[in-house]
Amino acid sequence: MEPSFTLPPGLSKPERYERFLDEYHTFIDGETDVISTLANTSAALREAFAFFWVGFYLVSSDEWLSLGPFQGTAACTRIRRGRGVCGTAWAEARTLVVPDVDAFPGHIACSGASRSEIVVPLTDTHGIIHGVLDIDSDRINDFDDADRHGLEAVVAALTATLWHTDI
Ligand code: SME
Repeated sequence: MEPSFTLPPGLSKPERYERFLDEYHTFIDGETDVISTLANTSAALREAFAFFWVGFYLVSSDEWLSLGPFQGTAACTRIRRGRGVCGTAWAEARTLVVPDVDAFPGHIACSGASRSEIVVPLTDTHGIIHGVLDIDSDRINDFDDADRHGLEAVVAALTATLWHTDI
């Protein structure tokens, strides 16, 4: 059957993530190709949640993240460790929710339309960070704890599948 991530209207945000995760677990089960799986994850998240920009930056060296698969407008190719929201989430190994990107020191503006952002490190159960999931909104204060919990669950499923660790 064709995968579909289109969600019915009227669901709360936690319900939307719950429905998404049900489908997503089946969708990625057994996948091992990093690029294919990240590309499809970006597309699935965009389809389900209509995010303005959703994609991945991958660790390419001790110092740099490189742009990976994404959905949205063209974006910065490289981000240094500790810089911007993505580089800070990587360096601090934690999810960052930024309600107003203009108030985040060092925010890297890939699109002038971005107003708020959430970045979740792709941390496997050994504590190794492979990259980050980055999602931007064109609305201020668009991400909350429901997004944090939902997206951390998506990332847990993703890292367990791609980097062979237990959820
Ligand atoms: N805003 C990010 C850069 C990546 S774009 O949003 C796609 C940051 O500050 O790290």
